[in-house]
Amino acid sequence: MRSIRTRLLISHSLPLLIIILLTGFVLDYVVETRILLPGFADELTSEAKLLAELTAHQPNIWDEAQEAQTYLVQLEPILTPNVSLFDLEGDFLGSTDASLKSTEPLSIQLEDLLAEDILIQTAYSRHLDASVVDVFTLVRDDTGALIGIIQMTYHLNDVYEQFLALRRVIIAILTIGVFLGVGLALFFAVNMSDALRQITGSIQQLAAGEEVALPAEQGPEEVRDLTRTVKALVTRLHTLETTRRKLLANLVHEIGRPLGALLPAVEALEAGAVENKVLRQELLAGMEDELGILRRLLDDLTGLYDQSVGSFVLTDRPIDLNKWLPNLFHTQREVARAKGLRWQSNFSDQLPTMQIDPERLAQAIGNLANNAIKFTPQGGTVIVEAGFQANEVWIQVKDTGCGIPVEDQGFVFTPFFRGRTETRFPQGMGLGLSIARDLVTAHQGRLEFESTPGEGSSFTIWLPISSEEK
Ligand SMILES: Nc1ncnc2c1ncn2[C@@H]1O[C@H](COP(=O)(O)OP(=O)(O)O)[C@@H](O)[C@H]1O
Ligand SMILES: [Mg+2]
Repeated sequence: MRSIRTRLLISHSLPLLIIILLTGFVLDYVVETRILLPGFADELTSEAKLLAELTAHQPNIWDEAQEAQTYLVQLEPILTPNVSLFDLEGDFLGSTDASLKSTEPLSIQLEDLLAEDILIQTAYSRHLDASVVDVFTLVRDDTGALIGIIQMTYHLNDVYEQFLALRRVIIAILTIGVFLGVGLALFFAVNMSDALRQITGSIQQLAAGEEVALPAEQGPEEVRDLTRTVKALVTRLHTLETTRRKLLANLVHEIGRPLGALLPAVEALEAGAVENKVLRQELLAGMEDELGILRRLLDDLTGLYDQSVGSFVLTDRPIDLNKWLPNLFHTQREVARAKGLRWQSNFSDQLPTMQIDPERLAQAIGNLANNAIKFTPQGGTVIVEAGFQANEVWIQVKDTGCGIPVEDQGFVFTPFFRGRTETRFPQGMGLGLSIARDLVTAHQGRLEFESTPGEGSSFTIWLPISSEEK
């Protein structure tokens, strides 16, 4: 009773059962009392009238018992009921039923019959074949004078057999109805409870931290909705879990590498390298590089934190791009040159003054420049350019590096995605581009790229110029 399946089954079947049983009884009663029996009584009455008419023209039979008996013997083969004749005193004259004695009394009062003209009397017995209906009718001659009484006796078993057959048909149809109804209720109940059970199973797996088998959508619309919600939840949790693992794996790697370089340098300095001016200088420069890497790592992590909080909070202020942009790349230019890359820049001097968050936008552009440097081998070129076109300012970072494999191009903005070519280049957290794009989006702009594997890539930031900024 506690399960939804049982409840559904009961709530579906019980009313059905009650309705069908009631319908059965009512149908049975109506057919018996309103259709079968009145029909039967009508038939008896007209048969009785017909017989009265016939016998009225046989005056002899009412005076002579012998005549009556002979007449009835002739009639017998064409009559269904037994017919007995009585004279007006109630004395027996004859019967088609040979077993009846001549002393057979008239079983009704003549006065009753006089009042009604036709009397129908039913005698039920516990055995169907002993139940009988007697029909008494008065016989009058052409002048209307009474001449005798006819008793017609019908055995009810024929009628009841007919009625029983009908009752069987009714019961059969209603039983089929009950089975169909209960079957249907069972189907719906099982369908619904199965769907719910599957969802519960998925949620339990989810709670236990197991691999979740996504439930198939089935059952009523509300349950399907629930299934879809659980699926969305599973997908979200899955993404979160994957992200968490990638974050940890990348973090361990990214912190480990610079620390692994810093420690031997410190040890070397302690062991006396401090005395050697050239060596000391080299070691310190190396340490500075590694600290720079850690610094950038922290920037990425800060960006990740901002992403997870929701959107970046910008503190916009008017910035003259003509002055601001050329000064952005000092550090990167030095790093590029140190790596043996050519650095070129080409900025329009007609750039507008725009409402931007300079620190945040610098971070986005810096991520692009860092990538260009990182993924371009020695001897290559990095070009930074800016200009405007229609209602947009564009800032482009282009390189002649390794390019992005076509199959990776759809994923470069996905957090923690790092290309396979990385084996040849230092790895990162895989966050730079995702953060850069979010930062540009927060400025109502968009970040696009083109890349040809083996030839290089170009990343372009497009920022809308509002009417006041023109
Ligand atoms: N200029 C570029 N040239 C070639 N590949 C690039 C370039 N910029 C980004 N990529 C590819 O996109 C991936 C994601 O970049 P990013 O989000 O900055 O992560 P990370 O720099 O930490 O690897 C990189 O690992 C690299 O495979
Ligand atoms: Mg990067």
